Amino acid sequence: MGEQDENRTGLSAEWAPRGVDVSIPSIARVYDAALGGKDNFAVDRVVADELIAAVPGARDGALANRAILSRGVRFMVEQGIDQFLDLGSGLPSAENTHQVAQRHNPQASVVYVDIDPIVLAHGRAMLAENSRTRVVTADARDAKAVLALPEVQELIDLDRPVGLLMVAIVHHLEDDEDPAGVVRTYLDALPSGSYLFLTHFWANGTREAQVIEQVLHGAHNTGRFRSREEITTFFDGLDLVEPGLVNLPLWRPDDRVPDPLPVSGTLLLGGIARKP
Ligand SMILES: C[S@@+](CC[C@H](N)C(=O)[O-])C[C@H]1O[C@@H](n2cnc3c(N)ncnc32)[C@H](O)[C@@H]1O
Repeated sequence: MGEQDENRTGLSAEWAPRGVDVSIPSIARVYDAALGGKDNFAVDRVVADELIAAVPGARDGALANRAILSRGVRFMVEQGIDQFLDLGSGLPSAENTHQVAQRHNPQASVVYVDIDPIVLAHGRAMLAENSRTRVVTADARDAKAVLALPEVQELIDLDRPVGLLMVAIVHHLEDDEDPAGVVRTYLDALPSGSYLFLTHFWANGTREAQVIEQVLHGAHNTGRFRSREEITTFFDGLDLVEPGLVNLPLWRPDDRVPDPLPVSGTLLLGGIARKP
């Protein structure tokens, strides 16, 4: 791997880890570019720029997702959760799960799982000093294989409550990939007192939602906006904590939230639920 050039707005192609095709946009890198990060290649920035040009609030939507991630992890730590499985964790950004969790409980453990190998390349560098955190490259759709990973076995005790994060990942599963079944397989393996934290693109009927879906489908062939009813089914059998499944800025906000929300705040729904 070469050096990252600080003067660029992102990574140069020479930086790519072996096996990473820099001619195809990746969800993780496009999301990073949309957040204003630097861990992305030109092909990813084209898609992020297209999104932001078509929907000027797209970056705010991504930032709202990162903000609820932080509030949600803090909430779960306050409920006594000290082990987290973060599926589709994405590239390291500000306020990653282990940073939030370990700030409140230094003994908290986190396993990050992402299908994109570049997440592992960056995560390893960031976590070299952190014995309570692991990053793994794996396909979250294969729940049984993920739960059997050595890193999960080492850091997550499946006999104690777990915080399961599926933040902005389930909308990358198509209906024929049985997203509800994938979520259920993880939950079935977790004990009572565990939490599911899920955010998801919401088909809110706006032009913005349609445009984002079209751009993501064009670039990745994924990114499915679902109805409130469809998203609610992912929480079947669980007890949603207050305020339920809501637009992300409305989930236990730290600051005053504008009323009405800008469209950027309405592109996803999110919630946290406890397994009884
Ligand atoms: C929009 S990002 C969300 C990142 C982070 N969870 C957040 O909310 O800030 C979606 C992530 O899911 C990952 N992903 C998509 N499909 C996946 C799969 N089948 N298994 C594991 N990760 C996946 C992508 O690589 C990407 O990093």
